[in-house]
Amino acid sequence: MDAISVIRTKRDRGELTPEQIDWVIDAYTRGEVAHEQMSSLAMAIFLNGMNRQEIARWTAAMIASGERMDFSSLARPTADKHSTGGVGDKITLPLAPLVAACGAAVPQLSGRGLGHTGGTLDKLESIPGWRATLSNDEMLDVLRTVGSVICAAGDGLAPADKKLYALRDVTGTVESIPLIASSIMSKKIAEGTGSLVLDVKVGSGAFMKNLDDARELASTMVGLGTDHGVRTVALLTDMATPLGRTAGNALEVRESVEVLAGGGPSDVVDLTLALAREMLDAAGLKDADPAKALADGSAMDHWRRMITAQGGDPDAALPVAREQHTVTASASGVLTSLDAYAVGLAAWRLGAGRARKEDPVQAGAGIELHAKPGDQVTAGQPLLTLHTDTPEKFDYALAALDGGVEIGASDTPFEAQPVVLERIG
Ligand code: URA
Repeated sequence: MDAISVIRTKRDRGELTPEQIDWVIDAYTRGEVAHEQMSSLAMAIFLNGMNRQEIARWTAAMIASGERMDFSSLARPTADKHSTGGVGDKITLPLAPLVAACGAAVPQLSGRGLGHTGGTLDKLESIPGWRATLSNDEMLDVLRTVGSVICAAGDGLAPADKKLYALRDVTGTVESIPLIASSIMSKKIAEGTGSLVLDVKVGSGAFMKNLDDARELASTMVGLGTDHGVRTVALLTDMATPLGRTAGNALEVRESVEVLAGGGPSDVVDLTLALAREMLDAAGLKDADPAKALADGSAMDHWRRMITAQGGDPDAALPVAREQHTVTASASGVLTSLDAYAVGLAAWRLGAGRARKEDPVQAGAGIELHAKPGDQVTAGQPLLTLHTDTPEKFDYALAALDGGVEIGASDTPFEAQPVVLERIG
């Protein structure tokens, strides 16, 4: 077996054999297949695709490249959620303790932000003292005592995906349905959760810009999970506009705490509850009532215990950026569009996100939204507040917002989108 013949097969639109797939994933993980060869193969897959059999084998080979976790010693059923990534998507923060408060164990292995979408670990690291890196024993201990844990995936989990994802990120091969599906599902299956709810984002701020692509990604992932014995369902959810009223690390933690306290923006609350119901259902806890757990403070209690168990202080003041700049409405009327990609890119330019894996992020940087699509606005009223420690970036961030905010005449008909668009599974 050699890399060139594998590349040629896919370049010429052929089907990769199981042996070719097993070999190339293993050899790349060991360093025998060079990065330039794998990047050529990733581009051939990006352009020519893979069929269901190839995707299933590719996923199995990435799972086999590392360790598999085992939660069978826990007394509670396990349930996890994965989002394909969006702007202002802080749902994991209130969701994990909420589902734990309803009786499931939630082993939430999360990532950092790259590009215009934020990362759960970056958000939580704005809480003083909070630690993302736990040993497997520490993780199990938090799961046993609190019921939910949010931490970084260890290096041993699907190492082939770690290498390949970093390579795809710098070779323009991220937005490929077979590669995204196998990347996400290899990690989730190796993690060992019994049930999984996928939040597949659709719209300008997501990888999948239209419903057809999102449906294909969702059904591919649901099929992979089900084939590996993980009860898997997917919700397709709107990412044309940011979720909630904040995008940025500490700003999103603050909003998540508002949700746990029984308040917060209605789209964040609705999506948190919809995903919680799916997770509890998939875990066999059909009678649990997540709305009650939000209202009676038990979800908040789990949040505080989870943050404390990972070294954080849930009562500590959150970091605030040094400088603010307010964007006002240029006219009176209806806010018809507040583009998720534009807001995500602007938040990233303010310092909330990173360009390279090793870059630091600013905890306080980001954007607050004072109006959402469908709201009536008056000329001169504040629409957005930009936050940063590096005010020289304001112009660069404002350029990202150019064309991303649209105001129509006050009688412009506006049809509100539901946050959950479809369910697959
Ligand atoms: N998230 C992942 O983990 N992998 C991808 O390929 C895309 C998003």
